[in-house]
Amino acid sequence: MKVPKRIQPLVDDGLVDEVLSQLMSGKEATVYTVRTGDTIRCAKVYKEANKRSFKKAAQYQEGRKSRNSRRARAMEKGSKFGRSQQEDAWQNAEVDALYKLAVAGVRVPEPFGCFDGVLLMELITDENGDVSPRLNDISMSAEQAIEDHDVMMVYIMRMLCAGIVHGDLSEFNVLVDEYGPVIIDLPQAVDASANNNAKAMLVRDVMNMTTYYSQYAPELLNTRYADEMWALYEKGELTPETQLTGKFKENTNAADVDNVIEEIKAAFEEEQARIERMQWADSDQSE
Ligand SMILES: Nc1ncnc2c1ncn2[C@@H]1O[C@H](COP(=O)(O)OP(=O)(O)OP(=O)(O)O)[C@@H](O)[C@H]1O
Ligand SMILES: [Mg+2]
Repeated sequence: MKVPKRIQPLVDDGLVDEVLSQLMSGKEATVYTVRTGDTIRCAKVYKEANKRSFKKAAQYQEGRKSRNSRRARAMEKGSKFGRSQQEDAWQNAEVDALYKLAVAGVRVPEPFGCFDGVLLMELITDENGDVSPRLNDISMSAEQAIEDHDVMMVYIMRMLCAGIVHGDLSEFNVLVDEYGPVIIDLPQAVDASANNNAKAMLVRDVMNMTTYYSQYAPELLNTRYADEMWALYEKGELTPETQLTGKFKENTNAADVDNVIEEIKAAFEEEQARIERMQWADSDQSE
């Protein structure tokens, strides 16, 4: 097909030899299949900021650090330079997350870099070499659902260990190839330790996945992976080797009321003593 304008710079630089077809055009990006030498890859062309919904951008961007202080100030001010920097940060967030997650043992498309707002990555295909379907496009047996749900929980846990919460995980952002689920679409991935919404996003990601797989295996609805993972993560005890159980016991121990009353009494007595000391000091001075 005719090379789209946004991909032309990659053709000029020899990163892409030919654009084969448009896979789809979504809210945030248009995705193409491209050929480089004799391999077929996927090119995700981000829409420009003004053509894209930024309604939740603030929620996702909280805690996203900028190493360069001029850049951080520009982003905060929302100047023209700032907007284009924010745009870069948004696009780089996806390629950064892909590199990190591949190392962390999460199945994602292998990234080949992001150039001029175009992310080049591995094209995920099925056993026939056709572009993989999304979870939403397929159905499966109960056994398969339980197995894939387990795999997905391990992926979410490894992401969290790498400090990342996907933030938009759903049956539309998971592809399936012959080895199992592959996670895609990460421009909104959040920094788990710096973002106050991270826990809520993790809970939602897990809930979306559990709800999806429970169509085939309803017993999955009894699992509590998000709470289990987050509790361990907060205590600094979550590692990629952690064996999750899917069970979680809420801390229901009644507060130790007697102990609390003792503490209050002690604090009260201490305060009384302090006031008495001050009164003594005052009367000393007036003598
Ligand atoms: N690496 C890939 N291999 C195969 N297909 C892909 C790949 N990346 C994306 N796709 C296809 O392109 C679609 C859109 O990709 P993606 O979800 O990353 O973009 P998006 O613009 O955020 O989409 P949406 O707004 O629909 O969520 C996916 O649903 C998938 O069908
Ligand atoms: Mg998507």
